[in-house]
Amino acid sequence: MDCKKFIEEQIAQIKQTVGGAKAINALSGGVDSSLVTVLAHRALGDQLRTVFVDNALMRKDEPQRVVETFARMGIPVELVDARDEFLSALAGLTDPEQKRQAVTDTFYSKVFGRLVKESGAKFLLHGTILTDIEETVDGIKRQHNILAQLGIDTEAAYGYAVLEPLRTLRKDGVREVAKFLDLPSEISQRIPFPGPALATRIVGEVTPERLETVRAATVIVEEELADSGAFQYMAVLLNDRATGIRNNKREFGSIIVVRCIESTDARTATVTPLSWDKLNRISQRITQINGVNRCLYDLTPKPPATIEYV
Ligand code: XMP
Repeated sequence: MDCKKFIEEQIAQIKQTVGGAKAINALSGGVDSSLVTVLAHRALGDQLRTVFVDNALMRKDEPQRVVETFARMGIPVELVDARDEFLSALAGLTDPEQKRQAVTDTFYSKVFGRLVKESGAKFLLHGTILTDIEETVDGIKRQHNILAQLGIDTEAAYGYAVLEPLRTLRKDGVREVAKFLDLPSEISQRIPFPGPALATRIVGEVTPERLETVRAATVIVEEELADSGAFQYMAVLLNDRATGIRNNKREFGSIIVVRCIESTDARTATVTPLSWDKLNRISQRITQINGVNRCLYDLTPKPPATIEYV
């Protein structure tokens, strides 16, 4: 691919479409929304408002880290604290689809929808890639109509428009352009992380305490497996408990599952054959987390399992 030509064309297109109006985009820290942010910032400068929504479900220090990474590139990102809204939407929910729906609805219908309307922006930039469009057409993903998800009725002539500068690229193309633009490797090579974030890695109810547990386990797994070269790795908190012993006392503790997989497109996956030493080390560290007394390694490929647990 001719990265230079792609970048020039997209910047020119964004400039021409937006003109003197305001535009807004939501940054998640993933490679797609990061690349959109950089392209749109180059095209629009101050006319662009980029927000990062803290949904309480991110990894340790992630919101601050993403904002700082962009600040170093000279791109201001506004951190929006919506933790309480997401946590209240998730309270009491245990069904996987209801949890996912609650995260999606809170993001689109409430938080981002509100920001878009308040901002006076007439253009939204979105990191849709070719695979998203194909999966929508194939009926694999829910319909990818951002304006409808935001509760914005285009028929009512609000004049909103969605720009999708990455719609011709697949993930490898996005990474290639990101690298060409010298985006830090923590962005261009970031392992996949789902939109509903740690909510997909907590079986059962998402509470602040349970988030703390899975977040602490995630730090350990990501540190230990950073050099594994695996496609994706994660920690999952089960909704079950098991008896154990801590400080000579019985403890009915939490169970963490470690998952590490090889894949090219996440549609199928095999399990990484990690060394026994590595697994032991991870297990020792994870069972030092408050209240966690079991650590399991998941040996299931996809299919029949999915990659995430929720
Ligand atoms: P599953 O669990 O379906 O995951 O085997 C396949 C890949 O997709 C990621 N994933 C998501 N990514 N929003 C995303 O942006 C989501 O809701 C979502 N759910 C799963 C998952 O991490 C894996 O790489």
